[in-house]
Amino acid sequence: MKIGMLTGGGDCPGLNPAIRGAVLRCLDYGDEVLGFTQGWKGLVEGNTMPLTLQAVEGIINQGGTILRSSRTNPFAQGKEEQLQGVLANIKKFELDALIALGGEDTLGVASKLYTQHGFPTVGVPKTMDNDLDLTDYTFGFDSAASVALEALDRLRDTARSHDRVIVVEIMGRHAGWTALWAGVGGGADYIMIPEVPADMDALCSHLQAMYARGKTYGLVAVSEGVEIAGAQKAEDAQLDAFGHHQLGEVGIGPAIAKEIEKRTGIPTRDVVLGHTVRGGAPTLFDRILGTRVGIKAADLVHKGQFGKMVAQQGTEIVAVPIEDAVKQWKLVPRALYDEFTTTFSK
Ligand code: F6P
Repeated sequence: MKIGMLTGGGDCPGLNPAIRGAVLRCLDYGDEVLGFTQGWKGLVEGNTMPLTLQAVEGIINQGGTILRSSRTNPFAQGKEEQLQGVLANIKKFELDALIALGGEDTLGVASKLYTQHGFPTVGVPKTMDNDLDLTDYTFGFDSAASVALEALDRLRDTARSHDRVIVVEIMGRHAGWTALWAGVGGGADYIMIPEVPADMDALCSHLQAMYARGKTYGLVAVSEGVEIAGAQKAEDAQLDAFGHHQLGEVGIGPAIAKEIEKRTGIPTRDVVLGHTVRGGAPTLFDRILGTRVGIKAADLVHKGQFGKMVAQQGTEIVAVPIEDAVKQWKLVPRALYDEFTTTFSK
């Protein structure tokens, strides 16, 4: 078979292991694999790179994606010519199937290509936000949370030296998995995620009580999707091609730090980790998960299971309909957050 492959949306560690896993399995089947560069843009414009054994050797420990990425949406309103480009290039390059690696946006396009245009697609879930439904984990999450964890460990040292609070803003658009995992693992003194309404009174009185009992520094882990009264809101930020607000612009971490200092008088600094958590080598967990889902995606193509996304459920890698996986986000359950509050309530 001739199989196309692309990576779309925000990059994250684990994409290269997944590309490698899928290509190596395709080679077992005797397929030719053609990479399209910069996400759907590559398929719109016909920009390719061959995915040979040589191309994927030595990439397992590399962050980012050798295929590069973009947030191009050929199904966006007014972009009909992009969709025509996709359909024309599928013909021109004589593709039998396409493996799309991405989050809910990229996979949504793959799903529509299959359901609306009958083109065989298989999806591989990726996102450092870990908010894709029907899969227990997405690669990228463990690596990003590990980077945020290391940052928290470093920031604790300097916060302690200066008797300060440091507010650390961590990416995570709709879901607070990354801030919660890094915050709990890094022993944060307070964690704020988008799923739980922000309570500045509770945060400030907790910090004051902590200082009163003699702990004179603090770490606050905050998801970028959190909102507080009086600060800019997500809806104030610009939209990307898939209609998402670019939350980096909102600056919720700095706003919370200012508010803490204003209300409590405790010297407070902020650190916005931003895209830092998306770079660097994938963790072992993400290398294994990426490899497994990549292999499974190639298997699904050969079993003719199209319109499906590979997913980790328990210890198994299974296939689920892409359509079902992108219907809603996998948010942090309130009970899980409440369970962890015991670690930041003293
Ligand atoms: O969806 C992944 C994500 O990393 C979000 O956490 C973040 O809001 C967004 O991407 C940032 O997007 P961009 O790379 O386009 O700035």
